[in-house]
Amino acid sequence: MHDWRRTVDGLREQGLRELSAISDPQALERWRVGYLGRRGALTDALRGLSRLPAEERPAAGQAANDAKRALEAALAEREGALREQALSRDLEEERLDVTMPGRPPARGGLHPTTLILRQITAFFGGLGYQVVEGPEVELEKYNFEMLNIPRDHPARDMFDTMYVRPPEVVLRTHTSPMQARVMEARSEEARAQHLPAPPVRVVVPGRCYRYEAQDATHEWMFYQVEGLAVDVGLTMADLKGTLAAFARHMFGSDVKTRFRCDYFPFVEPGVDFSISTPSVRGGAWLEILGAGMVHPRVLRMAGYDPDAYNGFAFGMGPERIAMLKYGISDIRGFYSNDLRFLEQFAS
Ligand code: PHE
Repeated sequence: MHDWRRTVDGLREQGLRELSAISDPQALERWRVGYLGRRGALTDALRGLSRLPAEERPAAGQAANDAKRALEAALAEREGALREQALSRDLEEERLDVTMPGRPPARGGLHPTTLILRQITAFFGGLGYQVVEGPEVELEKYNFEMLNIPRDHPARDMFDTMYVRPPEVVLRTHTSPMQARVMEARSEEARAQHLPAPPVRVVVPGRCYRYEAQDATHEWMFYQVEGLAVDVGLTMADLKGTLAAFARHMFGSDVKTRFRCDYFPFVEPGVDFSISTPSVRGGAWLEILGAGMVHPRVLRMAGYDPDAYNGFAFGMGPERIAMLKYGISDIRGFYSNDLRFLEQFAS
């Protein structure tokens, strides 16, 4: 056998063998340069043909060209195969299992205080009460003075007060200062227009603050909803009827209600208001708010003539109502941002 044939056959065989083991594009390019490039092994061999005797040249040239075409064809095929492999690998990576169940979006829910506030304001809104809000950082004048709680009066001890700037600026300890603010604003406006002071019906939801140790029934921050009605000829019967209807709205039509005497400096007489219904704490009497007829001094200080007008007022804690309605035993759950607590009310 001629040397050239061995060389050409050897190169072709070796080339094909190496090629079949190649699996990445860089190695493939190195292989191409090594065999088929301008300085590649096969190109070299073809060049060497010129040194062969003339009669052998055609056969050797033919064999070398065959080998070259065979390697080129094998290269093209290998390239195609690798491309296909890469493509199916990509497809596999991007594969999407459309039958997999989706992740449900996390839905928020209303805070229990918000739920109760909405029920309260909806009820009083239906009776024609306006919803108004007031400042949480409040003047001592409105938080106490205008509510018939003079400085150095022992009644101030009832409201464990946090002072922002003593003695004039406090964190309001209740929403009652809005009684004075609303009456004062309305009576002044009316006076400026030489009109009689108008009737008032407002409810005031909002945050209050007290300097108190936390426990299952006390928070240093909590909500209240104040109610105030002022008009000609309002009586205690109006207060009782209003609150009884409110209790039915919140706790159902078979709720029983009870008034007892209580003391708040800004009402006279003052009462506490309790409910009893079989579905809440086995029908025990539970106090849900303080109320009373607006004290004549409070009316007068805010510009309403107590000889012409009467009023009633009430103040309740929505957290307490939520606790009774939803069977919550610890008020600290409301504002500690524990989702295990809050999620129970997500609807
Ligand atoms: N402000 C009183 C409190 O915080 C509640 C109240 C409001 C009582 C209105 C009577 C009238 O305890």
